[in-house]
Amino acid sequence: MAKKIVDDLKIFNSLVDDLLKEEKEKGISTRIEADKLFDQLDISLSENAIEDEDFTTILRSLILNTPKTSGKLFFNQLYGGRESKSVLGDLLAVILNNSMATYKIAGPMVVVEKEIINKVCELISYPKSSGGTFPTGGSMSNFMALIIARDKKDNEIKNKGNCSNLICYSSVNSHYSIGKNASFAGIGRDNVRYISANEKGEIISSELENAIINDIENGNTPFFVNATVGTTVMGAIDPIDEISKICKKHNIWFHIDGSYSGTVIFSKKYKHLIKGVENSDSFCFNAHKTLGTPLSTSIFVLRDEKYLHNSFNNEADYLYQTDNSNFNLGQTSFECGRRNNALKFWTLWKSVGTNGIAEMVEHNYYLANVAREYIRNNDNYKLYSFDDSLSICFNYKNLDPEEICIKLYHANKLMVGFGMHKTDKFIRLVSINRENTKEDILNFFKILEEFTNQND
Ligand SMILES: Cc1ncc(COP(=O)(O)O)c(C=O)c1O
Repeated sequence: MAKKIVDDLKIFNSLVDDLLKEEKEKGISTRIEADKLFDQLDISLSENAIEDEDFTTILRSLILNTPKTSGKLFFNQLYGGRESKSVLGDLLAVILNNSMATYKIAGPMVVVEKEIINKVCELISYPKSSGGTFPTGGSMSNFMALIIARDKKDNEIKNKGNCSNLICYSSVNSHYSIGKNASFAGIGRDNVRYISANEKGEIISSELENAIINDIENGNTPFFVNATVGTTVMGAIDPIDEISKICKKHNIWFHIDGSYSGTVIFSKKYKHLIKGVENSDSFCFNAHKTLGTPLSTSIFVLRDEKYLHNSFNNEADYLYQTDNSNFNLGQTSFECGRRNNALKFWTLWKSVGTNGIAEMVEHNYYLANVAREYIRNNDNYKLYSFDDSLSICFNYKNLDPEEICIKLYHANKLMVGFGMHKTDKFIRLVSINRENTKEDILNFFKILEEFTNQND
């Protein structure tokens, strides 16, 4: 078996060499029509084994034809690029294959995770009672926050299953997981109040408070407010200080979904964008979005860890046989067997230090500023998003943004998406691949202009 893995790792290395070479040359993959995939790639599974050589050829073709999210022409998603020290950590986590459920099976990996949680809590000035976990992503972090808030409001709900009259609040611009989570938690999608946002995409806090008061007057029980630091489309940041005061006044759990831009906590220069985070009850961010760690690296922290334990602990004699809940992380997790998503963030943080992570965050903002400046200095463009957003939303020559994005994709020129705010539709350029330079951003506009001018 040891020989087998060594041989397979040789295959791995040779495939990675080819992938990196092509990624550098092409920037993105050549698109295959979905209905032609089975004709062009050997994907079908069959009865008999194949030789390693054939297997490697097939695998190479599959990999080279898969969209390259770390290429220089990929601006489509709220993630991009790869941090090599983090990739190294993740590959080691795969080889080790520990579940984070107990100290007995994860050993020092438990403390690797706890160290990250502790340092994040320190960075946002949470008290000693704080703690957290590594959920599978931002949606799951938001879900865990919702469940914890629900149980804090009424601890009998988890036994009786009746959450009538509980109401949660979030901006119209917040992530779709808020509504989905409300349905999973038994709260119900209809019991999410979507509060209006201003021109910049930030929630209007006076409308939030009016909605809360209205619900109280009608006999409902407000229990959860979600604020977003980096809304999915506009990259807007809700007014944290104002919302925290409202939540405190009405005794409501205040969660901050920082999945997109929450990593500002690392930067002295940009931390002001999340001013007041220390007054929240819970907070999360995705290192896989702005820090180039592999999917998924999501960190969820809360001001008082006992609530995490209260909602997620389940006694199990067959699992928890040694040590205590401080070290048996399954007792504060959603899953039973939980992947080690901490190591890849630890290897990155350990290697570059907190200052190195701050530089990464600041570089993202530098790239966003380059793009904004280019747009502002060119009359053919119109800018929709604001300063301090990592999403540069714009239109070019009044052309239909949806059509341009789809044509660019079909022509294998660029991968970039479109979005909407209120009635405006626009192209959304996401500047979070830290490996990009000013030239890469300018090249994006050059390709866009040449392509649209040729296709006019
Ligand atoms: C603001 C926000 N919250 C939550 C999420 C969901 O994160 P995940 O994809 O890790 O579930 C996203 C994803 O884009 C997001 O933009």
